Amino acid sequence: MTDPEIYPITGDWTNASLDPRKYEDLYESAASSPGSFWLDQATKRLDWITAPTIGGDWSFAKADFHIKWFADGQLNVAANCIDRHLAKHGDTVAIIWEPDEPSEEPRRITYRQLHDEVGRFANVLKVHGVGKGDRVTLYMPMIPEAAYAALACARIGAIHSVVFGGFSADALAGRIEDCGSKIVITADEGRRGGKRIKLKACVDEAAARAPTLETVIVVKATGAEVAMGPRDIWYHEAAAGVGSDCPAETMAAEDPLFILYTSGSTGKPKGVLHTSAGYLLWADFTFKIAFDYKPGQVFWCAADIGWVTGHTYLLYGPLSNGGTTLMYEGLPTWPDASRIWQVVDRHKVHTLFTAPTALRALMKEGDDFVRRTDRSSLKLLGSVGEPINPEAWRWYHDVVGEGRAPIVDAWWQTETGGIMIAPLPGAVPMKPGSASKPLPGVVPQLVDDKGTVLTGAAQGNLCITQSWPGQMRGVWGDQDRFFQTYFTTYEGKYFTGDGCRRDGDGYYWITGRVDDVINVSGHRMGTAEVESALVLHEAVAEAAVVGMPHEVKGQGIYAYVTLNAGREGDEALRSALVAWVRQEIGPIASPDKLQFAPALPKTRSGKIMRRILRKIAEGDVTALGDTSTLADPAVIDDLVANRIV
Ligand code: WTA
Repeated sequence: MTDPEIYPITGDWTNASLDPRKYEDLYESAASSPGSFWLDQATKRLDWITAPTIGGDWSFAKADFHIKWFADGQLNVAANCIDRHLAKHGDTVAIIWEPDEPSEEPRRITYRQLHDEVGRFANVLKVHGVGKGDRVTLYMPMIPEAAYAALACARIGAIHSVVFGGFSADALAGRIEDCGSKIVITADEGRRGGKRIKLKACVDEAAARAPTLETVIVVKATGAEVAMGPRDIWYHEAAAGVGSDCPAETMAAEDPLFILYTSGSTGKPKGVLHTSAGYLLWADFTFKIAFDYKPGQVFWCAADIGWVTGHTYLLYGPLSNGGTTLMYEGLPTWPDASRIWQVVDRHKVHTLFTAPTALRALMKEGDDFVRRTDRSSLKLLGSVGEPINPEAWRWYHDVVGEGRAPIVDAWWQTETGGIMIAPLPGAVPMKPGSASKPLPGVVPQLVDDKGTVLTGAAQGNLCITQSWPGQMRGVWGDQDRFFQTYFTTYEGKYFTGDGCRRDGDGYYWITGRVDDVINVSGHRMGTAEVESALVLHEAVAEAAVVGMPHEVKGQGIYAYVTLNAGREGDEALRSALVAWVRQEIGPIASPDKLQFAPALPKTRSGKIMRRILRKIAEGDVTALGDTSTLADPAVIDDLVANRIV
């Protein structure tokens, strides 16, 4: 089947990054000799201390499982993101910082200033005993110091683990403990949409549950009164005592760069591990090619630094390319729905990279908020994090971009390090709602549930058959879990967890997760995590959580809760349970709907039939499918009758 609606390469878009110009040629050359293709890219695109002589060295097979890229090379990621630009572009703005409060002045940090700030931060870390291989947890608002801190870790070879500032003290404590970090970098408070977020207080609460924690470095961001205890250090005081000169540590290509926790279908969040050279090359290469980035353009990745998109496209990709990255502290819709476009105008943003959920929220407010702004600087638009519905795509293209800006619908994952499937602007015609074609070096494959490879136009489970430099290298502290999670569902292949359709033109259409992960506003949430939080409450006997369609968030969270004997499922308890989940995990995990259920639908062997719960949550109650294997089919009637609409 071929989709009729194709947006050709329009306007004056050519893709200067593509050499040879054609997408097919580039894809072919990466496919025919991946080892030398990537070795060549790595040598050309990165600055090495010792240049590598080996490209990829990997196997997805159980007996011989390993993944390495450029293994004999040595480099430093921070030096690639800063030092190598100094000679020619020291005065180029590296980071533009736009504050939450529109009346405040933005900050512009040049590469030279960034070099000094990062060096100083690195020296503070060193004074406090941080060295190569140590884990450093960042729990930061969207302020330049978050970037300095991450790059400072990279400079001295420490491994950063950024925890999104919206996660609760409990979630933070779990992440500190899992990677055994002795140090947390935070701020007194964060600001978002005119609200204050008490980060330091949250770290104090987490510290009580994280015995490894010895030191907390606190950046003064809002100047709020915060309690300072024996383990706490003000960053500005520590920074006053050190210089800005800090040599970059020599790192092996496969030395860890960062850990980023992400939700899976089972258990607690995994610490996804990325290493130095392969990740950096993927960030550098994909940023250049997927956004056809040219020096001088202002690139705005609207994701928080706490997510992988913030790592790769706010920080490492733009900076490795010597680009100008915009970091915005606040919300796109505050003080009103024009703010995002005002920021575009204020800083002459060339490329905006945001999530469909934000677009849907903005679209709901009406076109006037967009039309009253200029946006003539905006030449390229990106979408990431979840499937973009064609309606939002067209609004983005027609209203926001006034038809002149191509849309880069970028499919990828925390695990992939950077973009894997996307229409390269100026090179690949677009279809609204399709992430389109794989990037050079990416070899997708669709398989059915039995693992049979599907060819041509087909719908199935999305796997990747060849390693690529940006691939995650492990789960922190649990290599076996890495192999089990990604390489055993379909033997010898990396399984993404996503469902996908390929059309007759070879375009890929991601249909969403096929496992027990839900995608709420572009953020991954494991249903198992929300369930574990719910059952910790003393009133709850059992819980099952599924995704449901949500107009703005893409997917919402629907929870079914069975109470302990003697407990009454009233409104007060419902609100208390929602508040409980926020407290345990964070606001992003709040159930949108919570239904009290006397029992959950189970098979005779005790397995919850989620398929049925999903259908009920979707409101599709007439076609529940085969319920004959249920231990007690009568359970269904109650669930349907008390469904929350
Ligand atoms: C989903 C975010 C459709 C997908 C970068 C994937 C997408 C999960 C897209 C990873 C897209 C991401 N179209 N779905 N363009 N981008 N996804 O790890 O289900 O937070 O598996 O990485 O988001 O989420 P993660």
